[in-house]
Amino acid sequence: MNWEALRDEFPITRNYNFQNHAGVAPVSRRSAEAAQRYLTHAAENAYLGGEFYKNADRVRTQIAQLIKANADEVTFAKNTSEGLSMVANGLSWQSGDNVVISNVEFPANVYPWQALRSRGVEVRMVMEEDGRVPLERLFEAINSRTRLVAISSVQYASGFRTDLATLGAFCQSKGVLLCVDAIQSLGVFPVDVKAMGIDFLAADGHKWLCAPEGIGVFYVRRELQGHLRPTSIGWRSMKDPNNFDKIQFEFAESAKRYDGGSYNLAGVYALGGAIELVKETGIEAIAQRLLHLTDRMVDGLRGKGYRVLSSRAPGEGSGIVAFFSDMHDPHQIQRHLQCEHRIVIAVRRGRLRASPHVYQTEGEIDQLVEALPAH
Ligand SMILES: Cc1ncc(COP(=O)(O)O)c(C=O)c1O
Repeated sequence: MNWEALRDEFPITRNYNFQNHAGVAPVSRRSAEAAQRYLTHAAENAYLGGEFYKNADRVRTQIAQLIKANADEVTFAKNTSEGLSMVANGLSWQSGDNVVISNVEFPANVYPWQALRSRGVEVRMVMEEDGRVPLERLFEAINSRTRLVAISSVQYASGFRTDLATLGAFCQSKGVLLCVDAIQSLGVFPVDVKAMGIDFLAADGHKWLCAPEGIGVFYVRRELQGHLRPTSIGWRSMKDPNNFDKIQFEFAESAKRYDGGSYNLAGVYALGGAIELVKETGIEAIAQRLLHLTDRMVDGLRGKGYRVLSSRAPGEGSGIVAFFSDMHDPHQIQRHLQCEHRIVIAVRRGRLRASPHVYQTEGEIDQLVEALPAH
């Protein structure tokens, strides 16, 4: 893979050494151009000859290929929160049921479940241990009243990558549903909803996929579509959406039942462009390079006396490196890097968090390490 050539797809490289893809990532050129194609056509021809919804179905297929689902199991959502909320609000709960999550989930994967407390649902939080959410603790938290486990594929603050295949198999053996917030891995680590036993998946485009904010993906396993009631119902949720003159309440026999109304087509096009670039680059090659770059960063940080929280055990590492120093204030370091060096990282849960992407160079990784204050 020619990583140097991939840089051309990311104009941000001219302005910043940007290492906050776990926050809001730059939009790739491919993604921006796809959205622009839609906007230009819409400006010059409105919808005429645009085949906008046919193209949206192509993007649906691209998403399905990316997560190894069927196209009829996938639709678009505004963001991760909307997808997770559709799961929380669409299942029928009994008082006394429980949902298992971890105590370090991004809030998008906490509040929709906490909102179920008013329906008598308990939210069980498994505690993080040294930057890991151990599978054994999740298993222990599951009991006969557990209906669902909701977990991030990669934890936003620590970068801990969940072993979804093992978790999915355990959940299946107990008859528990598995709902995954995949925003921190989609586009950089392979996701296989079937092999991983994932029942629901939600993610937004604005992190590792390098698409804009506000266009997300939502997966519902086909067999569950009859059990997950659509909560935002509109003309596009129906089997025959274009038959405006005939009211016939019959849900689409696919994930389109979760659609409601018109699409954010500029976003859908942008997402399509972003996924095209991922496919061209190759998800396995992307994952390997990201681990190579972050391994290099971890070595450099440790060599300089910083402590790294992120697990680098096989299968547990990701594109996120969380690190800290007892001698320095993380916010001060973050501001210094951005203002003096144009290196962009974040602070999360009191620690520095760097999240580079594969179009970046080893030199950029070293530049971050060099620019940090010494011990
Ligand atoms: C794990 C995780 N989930 C969700 C989100 C964002 O949610 P949404 O797509 O609803 O804005 C973030 C953003 O930081 C995140 O890290």
